Amino acid sequence: KQRILSGVQPTGNLHLGNYLGAISNWVDLQQKYENFFCVVDLHAITIPHDPKTLIEDTYSIAALYLACGINLKDSTIFVQSHVSAHSELVWLLNCITPLNWLERMIQFKEKALKQGENVSVGLLNYPILMAADILLYNASYVPVGEDQKQHLELTRDIAARFNSKFSTLENPVFKIPEPLIRDSGARVMSLSDGRSKMSKSDSSDLSRINLLDPPDLIHKKIKRCKTDSAKGLEFDNNDRPECNNLLNLYTLLSGKTKQDVLQECRDMGWGQFKPLLADTTIEALTPIQEKYHSIITDKYYLDSVLKEGKDKAETIANETLSKVKHSLGYLCSF
Ligand code: TYM
Repeated sequence: KQRILSGVQPTGNLHLGNYLGAISNWVDLQQKYENFFCVVDLHAITIPHDPKTLIEDTYSIAALYLACGINLKDSTIFVQSHVSAHSELVWLLNCITPLNWLERMIQFKEKALKQGENVSVGLLNYPILMAADILLYNASYVPVGEDQKQHLELTRDIAARFNSKFSTLENPVFKIPEPLIRDSGARVMSLSDGRSKMSKSDSSDLSRINLLDPPDLIHKKIKRCKTDSAKGLEFDNNDRPECNNLLNLYTLLSGKTKQDVLQECRDMGWGQFKPLLADTTIEALTPIQEKYHSIITDKYYLDSVLKEGKDKAETIANETLSKVKHSLGYLCSF
């Protein structure tokens, strides 16, 4: 089986963008591949973080993976910082990656702009750590949302550069991975602005629906979300980004086709559509929330999942790391 690797940062709650853009895709694909899903806690400190919440956030993401339907027969769940090969490979890749490749990363530029003088070297370095995550496992595919596309291109460029400098065409050190980005759901937009993406870092919690939001909060957020005053509802009208986003959410969460949704909703007003969207969201999230709450209280179980994940991941990662060091000419360790 070909291999998949992907990950989510343990920074606060996951939202519908993370779920529809990434995790639900992992769940749909998992039986076809051998999967590694990482809680990328080393990435979580590239912007200022709170040490008091990192442990709980790490457990929370692992529990959400399971609650969303990742199964341990097809998939391995592990914590990035538990496999030290990630930190080691990132250094080796740092030294072969041109600085200007990083400086043009859109996400770096956006995040750096928000932070002014406090930008860490780690934030600039972040995409190389992501490349290390992927390349250590010889992943063929990386299922992510649209916003990670540029990072995947960088990963491919780094792998190709390393291969051409330090290995032969017949026996390349790294496998060049392909992104898997969905046609729909790859870019879920904010509830407060249909032109910017739903994001954990938006200062307003009303701009996103978190997977663990209780029903009354979901009703409230959808009731207050931005709409427009045009008559009827429609997809794909550039002048109505909020309308398109909300209809897309309804389509994805209800499992209906776009055609059926258009039929059902085109003559609706917001007063009729919003409660429908809220109820559909709640119906989709309730089973995930129930499963989550039963798992998150059982730290003993979660520890055993993550320990097993670490052992499986480490074996593969260390093998790749040895190959990399050998090709760079390092003296073997004793
Ligand atoms: P992160 O934690 O920001 O997001 C996790 C996943 O959710 C997707 N996503 C979205 N999809 C659709 N609409 C949105 N509004 C939306 N917001 C987020 C992201 O594309 C991502 O797939 N750098 C990564 C984590 C990472 C990683 C990796 C991913 C580290 N190493 C190796 C894949 C492979 C990140 O910060 O994702």
